[in-house]
Amino acid sequence: MSKRKAAGALTALLAVSMLTGCTAAAGEIIRIGHNQSTGHPTHIALTAFERFIEQQLGEKYDVEVYPSELLGSQNEMVQLTQTGAIHFCVASNSLLETFSPGYSLFNLPYLFASAEAYHAAMDDEGITGPIFTSTRQAGFAAVTWIDAGARSFYTVSRPIETPADLKGLKIRTQQSPTNVEMMRLLGGSATPMGFGEVYTALQARVIDGAENNEMALTDNGHGDVCKYYSYDMHQMIPDILIGNTAFLDGLPAEDRLIFEEGFALVNTVERAEWSRAVEQAKKKAQQEQGVQFLYPDTAPFQQACAPLHHSMLEAQPELEPIYEAIQAYNALYPSSARQGGEDE
Ligand code: GCU
Repeated sequence: MSKRKAAGALTALLAVSMLTGCTAAAGEIIRIGHNQSTGHPTHIALTAFERFIEQQLGEKYDVEVYPSELLGSQNEMVQLTQTGAIHFCVASNSLLETFSPGYSLFNLPYLFASAEAYHAAMDDEGITGPIFTSTRQAGFAAVTWIDAGARSFYTVSRPIETPADLKGLKIRTQQSPTNVEMMRLLGGSATPMGFGEVYTALQARVIDGAENNEMALTDNGHGDVCKYYSYDMHQMIPDILIGNTAFLDGLPAEDRLIFEEGFALVNTVERAEWSRAVEQAKKKAQQEQGVQFLYPDTAPFQQACAPLHHSMLEAQPELEPIYEAIQAYNALYPSSARQGGEDE
């Protein structure tokens, strides 16, 4: 983050603290930022964390959860967490690859064969551990992962049935080199921007579409503009709860154990909420926003993206054993015939 932007985010933080009267609290204030609404599974899970920590250690810590980019964009919040200006934030795994290249593994399109393989791999510390701790030197570490479903393309006016339909379309991607390269391979034109800017860009037709899970249609209003959602399911990208290293390392051992329990709670609460939230989002998008859901053959999309797997492993051969461990879960939980919650 530039100094100007960092200063802007900090000013916003102070303004929010003043508005919410945060400075009067007894315990140490623990600030957690994220970019979703207060009805989103991420927020519900973080407020469960807040309640848990305050029940267990209320005399020492006062947890405050800031939703909706109140503390800045995800990129800005990661940098605030790095410097210790805030303690935790939720960042998409996509963004983290610019902080530590190992994260690019979980951004690979069609890395996981099924949701079951994805969950099992992300629950396996042998797989996540080396990557989650790789940013310790940079000032933060991942403390748990959060399900963000599968990402698919959605567009204002041209339904995407094959990669050829993406040709000439400007599609918003996350600010990650892997995602930009994925769009290039699929033939579309990547327009990277922060999540908070997408709605206006769609409305102004600066972009022709975007890609995300179903919640973006309803919770972020993208389905008001985009009427075609195509289940090509190109990525299952987790969100990651990251914490400032100095804060985590400075916690007394007994408090750290409670925080670890709290991190696990974030994961389980969010996952339980996620399936319900996606189902509701899909229903709402269909019934209230008039979004049409399409189920294209995913094979041509997958073939187009395959070179990314090779180039990533070539560039980072140390990721090979982790990649292979993921393939073992893929063999255990192969893709099911029906996809994307396809209507029965
Ligand atoms: C999902 C994800 C967010 C991310 C967003 C995006 O909503 O959960 O963490 O910021 O996609 O596309 O930027």
